[in-house]
Amino acid sequence: MYGNDFGDFDDPGAGPLNAADTGEVEAAAAHADRRAELDLSDFDAIIAADQRIEPRDAMPEEYRQTLIRQIAQHAHSEIIGMQPEGNWLTRAPSLRRKAILIAKVQDEAGHGLYLYSAAETLGITREELLDRLHNGKQKYSSIFNYPTLTWADIGAIGWLVDGAAIMNQVPLCRCSYGPYARAMIRTCKEESFHQRQGFEALWDLMRGTEAQQAMAQDAINRWWWPALAMFGPRDTGEHAVKGGHTAQSMAWGIKRFSNDELRQRFVDMTVPQAERLGLKLPDPELKWNEERGHYDFGEIDWDEFWRVLKGDGACNAQRMERRVTSHKQGAWVRDAAAAYAAKSEGRKAAASNEGSAA
Ligand SMILES: [Fe+2]
Ligand SMILES: [Fe+2]
Repeated sequence: MYGNDFGDFDDPGAGPLNAADTGEVEAAAAHADRRAELDLSDFDAIIAADQRIEPRDAMPEEYRQTLIRQIAQHAHSEIIGMQPEGNWLTRAPSLRRKAILIAKVQDEAGHGLYLYSAAETLGITREELLDRLHNGKQKYSSIFNYPTLTWADIGAIGWLVDGAAIMNQVPLCRCSYGPYARAMIRTCKEESFHQRQGFEALWDLMRGTEAQQAMAQDAINRWWWPALAMFGPRDTGEHAVKGGHTAQSMAWGIKRFSNDELRQRFVDMTVPQAERLGLKLPDPELKWNEERGHYDFGEIDWDEFWRVLKGDGACNAQRMERRVTSHKQGAWVRDAAAAYAAKSEGRKAAASNEGSAA
């Protein structure tokens, strides 16, 4: 039942709850592989025909490195993102909420695994990727450096942080790199459940006591702006040049929309939901612009964004410390898995030797 048992929110007039509910994921999944039929042998031709680059294909070194960086950063975000929510597993307010949260946090570990596997197809090992996370050479999404102070933060993360992540990830289902695109299709389906469970947790709080409503509002006050910052620096108009990798990534079909465009879509989808929840989004400049057909919103505090990204957030040190410690503590599991795999291989080889001798 969970995911679709709240109020009237599945009524047709309400619109999709998140970007994975719009049918775009299905459309991306239906993308036909026409490589053989079109006989495309070269990178540029494959990109121009909107076909997928596969690990066996020749590709420009910068394309490969861009993807390694992006997929790794995404994978790191999935596994670090387990920490702020893991904080509430033992304190969830009911058995049902606990079961939902455990399933969600476990999904995030799975997303990390799909993504590390996708990155490995580009010729880098998982050990190297994790080293780069642990020594700070690669980043994870800055949003996870904020603390989860109350139960309502779990609702806010699901609704806003997973909602923003889906907005980013749905276009990645059509990414030009095949393994990344395919990993995103499955991930988006699961993210949709994450966003819905967050929405539902807030829905219940907003129909609870005054204290519960205040707790939900406080969580939204703290998570709204960091969620908008998740889309990354401004990269359109006068900010286009300073936007970094956007133009090249779009030419390569890695990125399909600018950060600003995705952020606008997120705001447009989320504002009516906030109204239905009865929550106030903490932005006095937020208002419908009839002419543009979009909501206008205030300026993000980019100094805070860069400060937190560079390590000065409330939880950066704690997140990394916990990650490195648990990686060390898990060494015996990796050793055991490797020993088991080697033994199985040995047994298989012995069996096939016997077979061929007989
Ligand atoms: Fe995820
Ligand atoms: Fe998620």
